[in-house]
Amino acid sequence: MKILGIETSCDETAAAIIEDGRHIVSNVVFSQTDMHSIYGGIVPELASREHMLTILPAIDQAMTEANVTYSNLDAVAVTHGPGLAGSLLIGVNSAKGIALGRNLPLVGINHLEGHIYAAWLEDSDPESEIGFPAICVIASGGHTDLILMKGHGDYQLVGRTRDDAAGEAFDKGARVLGLGFPGGPAIQSISEKGDSDSEKFPRPNIKDSLDFSFSGLKTAVLRRAEQKGIYPQSEGETVNHQDIANVASGFQSAIVEFIVRRTVQAVKKYNAKGVLLGGGVAANALLRKEIKAKCPVSVIVPKPSLCTDNGAMIGAAAYFHLRHGMRYEFNLDVVPNLRLG
Ligand code: KG4
Ligand code: ZN
Repeated sequence: MKILGIETSCDETAAAIIEDGRHIVSNVVFSQTDMHSIYGGIVPELASREHMLTILPAIDQAMTEANVTYSNLDAVAVTHGPGLAGSLLIGVNSAKGIALGRNLPLVGINHLEGHIYAAWLEDSDPESEIGFPAICVIASGGHTDLILMKGHGDYQLVGRTRDDAAGEAFDKGARVLGLGFPGGPAIQSISEKGDSDSEKFPRPNIKDSLDFSFSGLKTAVLRRAEQKGIYPQSEGETVNHQDIANVASGFQSAIVEFIVRRTVQAVKKYNAKGVLLGGGVAANALLRKEIKAKCPVSVIVPKPSLCTDNGAMIGAAAYFHLRHGMRYEFNLDVVPNLRLG
């Protein structure tokens, strides 16, 4: 079964062809990062306009690379939430147009569920490798969620952030350290030259809960940057690059340690058989290493390009929806605050 997966919830215009839910035939991602980076964050109006220009080229390229035509497709899947309304609309309307025009089933996918199903790609099969229940950790620019997955389509939200998401904390931390946007990759890269022990950050602690909170760490990085003359940066003033690397490294360690600690707690509390890690922050090398080292059960972490937003994960999730007989009508709408579990 060949599915066209479309993803436009944020700042990536993405399309992929997925075969039988697990095999990537093509996976095209047009990133808008350069366009948004001059503003230090995503500008929703620009994002939706850019999606409008790039959605058809992205789909065309995915079809060409996969050597398929519309008549070879079995279904069209698209992210319909959560995300930016104007951005989601471009993907959803494009998917509807193709599905209607070619008389194909339309599948609406929750973006967070897509991040979970990235673990099924590259011919991996978490169901037989670890089984259910699994703890899904979704750490992205908009979410830091712990989801208990009891089976396909059966989710329970057991922990979430009470303020900023982990990716948002990385992005804001990078901004005060003068590292640009997106912050996660920049912090990861400069942290390699830093010493996390020389810049210890407070460890967030919410008692009797699996919830997260990153606002304290965000304030702490701002204070540290002010103390060291890193922020605000005045013209002509030189900053100590080793200071920036040390602060970035301490900050990254605190975020990673918090996510790993909560994951281990969730695994124990729910007797989970394994962990599935996903979302843009799952591309972080320290997080990938630490979560595998500290979890008492198997952890599946997709390769970094499948952790950040892509169409392949949407096609993978759609395969399991279709296999379980789920059908969607053409009144499928965008739901910017769609929840999972
Ligand atoms: O899942 P994603 O691509 O988009 C959303 O659904 O939000 O996640 C984007 C987030 C950004 O905040 C970005 O800074 C973060 O993922 N990110 C990283 C890394 N790569 C991307 N954070 C830490 N380390 C990375 N290597
Ligand atoms: Zn995402």
